[in-house]
Formats: sequence, C-alpha cells, structure tokens
Amino acid sequence: MNWDLEAIQTAGWVQTLDYLEELGSTNDHALLTASDNRPHPRLILCNQQQAGRGRGSNRWSVTRGALTFSLVIEPESMGIPRERWPTLSVAVGGALCAAIQPLIPEADVRLKWPNDVYANGRKLGGILVEVPAVTPPRLVIGIGVNVLNSATTAPEELRSRMVALCDLQATTTGTSSRSVVLAAILNELKQHLVRLENDPLSLAPHWRSLCFLTGRTVTLDDGVRTVTGACQGIDDDGALRIYTEFGPQRCLGGTIRGYEPLKDSD
Ligand code: BTN
Repeated sequence: MNWDLEAIQTAGWVQTLDYLEELGSTNDHALLTASDNRPHPRLILCNQQQAGRGRGSNRWSVTRGALTFSLVIEPESMGIPRERWPTLSVAVGGALCAAIQPLIPEADVRLKWPNDVYANGRKLGGILVEVPAVTPPRLVIGIGVNVLNSATTAPEELRSRMVALCDLQATTTGTSSRSVVLAAILNELKQHLVRLENDPLSLAPHWRSLCFLTGRTVTLDDGVRTVTGACQGIDDDGALRIYTEFGPQRCLGGTIRGYEPLKDSD
C-alpha cells in the first residue's frame, strides 16, 4: 500500500510530516511527542495502527487499509481561542463530511454528534480530539476513516455497524486511495479551521444540516445524567439539543447510548 507523501506535504498546509509504518495509536504518539517544536501543523500518519483509541474506553479496531492519522495544531497561532475548543470535534466532523461526500456522491454522509461520521447509517469514520499539557497550547486531532478495509472482511461484531469507502465506491467512481482521501480531508480541515477562527457562526448551519440524530429519539449519558428525548439538532456552540419530558436540554458533551430509527425512513 503506497502513500503519496510528497503530494501531502507539498499541498502546503502540513508543515511537518511524521510517517511511521506501524504504530500503536497515532494519538498516543502525538501526545507523547506534543512538545516537539518543529513547525505546525504536524501530521502523524501510520500505515497500520495496532491499538487505536476512541472516546472513553472505545477502541478503534485494527483493520488493514483504514486511514489513521493525528494532526497536531497550535490553536493560538491559528486564531482559535480556548472557548471555541469544545466545538472542534463537531467542526472537524463537518470538515470530514465535506471531504468524503464528493467521493461517494450517492451515499448519505452525516455527522453523528459528537465525533462520528456515518454513511448510509453506518460508521465510516471517527474523531478523537485531545489536549496535551504543553506550552504553547496544542491540540491533537485524531482521525480514522474506513477506506480500503471493507466491512465484508471486518470482525463479525463490527460488520453490520461499519462501512468503508471501498464498499460504497466499487460500482461507481472506483476506489480512492488513502492518500487521495487524506489530501481531501486536510484541504477541508484547513478551510473549516480558518472559518472557526474568522466566522464560527457560519459553520453551525452546516453541522445542523448534517446531523444524523435530528428527529430521532436519543439517549445521551453525560457522566452525571441520562437524557432521553427527541433530538432537535446541534446548537451554534456545538451542544446537542434534546427535547425531553421536562423541556429542552442542551448537552455540551456525552455519549449517545442509543437512538431510534427515523419514522418513515430507515
Ligand atoms: C471514536 O470512534 O470514538 C473515535 C475514533 C478515533 C480513531 C482515530 S484513528 C487515528 C487516531 N489515533 C487513535 O488512537 N485514535 C484516532
């Protein structure tokens, strides 16, 4: 599996590229090397990730052919103030959807709050944003996308819940290489992060239009309480809005424990 590393670096945004053939987790590597003072953004890319992590205790399964990388950014030099950091996961999700949708024009690509990308109701990608304790402040944006790792060869327990780009592209546009997908994601990420700096409110309508959970009955666990109700979409600050029996609730963080199909569709 070859990478077009030159194209990724000469595209201009990424200033430092660390390519590793194999790694436990690109986010772990990024956190351990967060004080590296080479120019940022710094991309950590690996061909085969062995112990990828998701949010909480979730794992990112080991499957050959997935695109797995972490991008370390310096929010201060990008003009992203600390109060906007909580929206980063959703903003990155919007950028991922924008990069991926044109590659699978017939699929329904959506953002499943707060950190997943779904295509046709199945998980296609995930995001893990972490904050290392370094000065100047840096943020680690970990991204995994199922590209060449077809659901048909995935472990039994994942098969019905995941999908890969190659599963959705086979009959139409042909299969994209991981380099092509990475280049498209970096390009969108750059644009979305610039908007997070200059015009953050312009991003919110995009998130809302992509929200997979809107209109569904959802159950969210934020570590303190469980909130169940009809999802009303994503607010300007990235919070999920849920209409419960006690009225509307805004959830700034948490894990979606369950959701119901949309009435009259899926
Ligand atoms: C989730 O599903 O909760 C998020 C998954 C994020 C996985 C990516 S793969 C690259 C990066 N390195 C990791 O260990 N995790 C992220």
